[in-house]
Amino acid sequence: MSRTVYVNGEYVAEEDAKISIFDRGFLMADGVYEVTSVIGGKLVDWPGHCARLSRSLNELDMKSPGSDEELLAIHRELVRLNDLEEGMIYMQITRGAEDRDFAWSDDLVPSIVLFTQAKSVAEKAEYKTGIKVISVEDIRWARRDIKTVQLLAPSLCKMKAKAAGAQDAWMVEDGFVNEGTSNNAYIVKDDGTIVTRNLSHSILHGITRAAVLEYAREAQIKVEERPFTIEEAQGAAEAFVTAASTFVCPVVEIDGVQVGSGTPGPVAARLREIYLAESLKKAV
Ligand code: PDD
Repeated sequence: MSRTVYVNGEYVAEEDAKISIFDRGFLMADGVYEVTSVIGGKLVDWPGHCARLSRSLNELDMKSPGSDEELLAIHRELVRLNDLEEGMIYMQITRGAEDRDFAWSDDLVPSIVLFTQAKSVAEKAEYKTGIKVISVEDIRWARRDIKTVQLLAPSLCKMKAKAAGAQDAWMVEDGFVNEGTSNNAYIVKDDGTIVTRNLSHSILHGITRAAVLEYAREAQIKVEERPFTIEEAQGAAEAFVTAASTFVCPVVEIDGVQVGSGTPGPVAARLREIYLAESLKKAV
């Protein structure tokens, strides 16, 4: 079935959606994006995604095509037009289109595209089985805190993981885990403390991460924000990842070594439950 998508001010059938071949998003990966999950027809963690979008745009000196209220209204209208009960909304904003040149003009008009993806988010088989990850070198650029559409490096890493019979890759730099290809990475120590890499330019500042850490602290679960190695993760009681697309998903194997009992652990399960309950209360 054809979706209705949003392109530069218009709601159109996906087969009629068009973007210029001179768009800098297409030619230079000069664009940023957000992925927001939808449950029960409502947007999960919207204020966080909206704030991170502004930050990404500011860091790249890129104009926003609309106010926060206008962007929310477009998201809601797409949910309505596509009868989206559960899934994701992808929003991409690029600097705009002009003849190819590394330098850009100040008066460029940003392009904006949104589309929906209907899929299960709240319940997935991998929450019950957990996923296997491999470690790979982090070959991305140095500003991973900006959510740009330069996704070739993580895509290559993901394909490497698939070829190795795993579901994802943890990207490692200077001996420490940065994050997964499209999620933040965590381990759980024997005493139940959660460890995840501290925020910096090295990782994306996950919106699910922020919410999960807040709920964990409220639930009296100890949190350490610091780098950890693959060896520490392999010896941890549990491991898991978070993202808007997977919420909290257990990791049961790292580079062929079982984590804990090799099955999803109680801390990840509890955090997923709390996250789902709390974020649904705030969904808009
Ligand atoms: N990716 N780290 C990276 C590299 C990511 O691409 C993502 C999200 C995250 C988690 O961020 P959040 O909790 O805000 O979704 C961390 C999205 C889901 C994607 O590219 O599809």
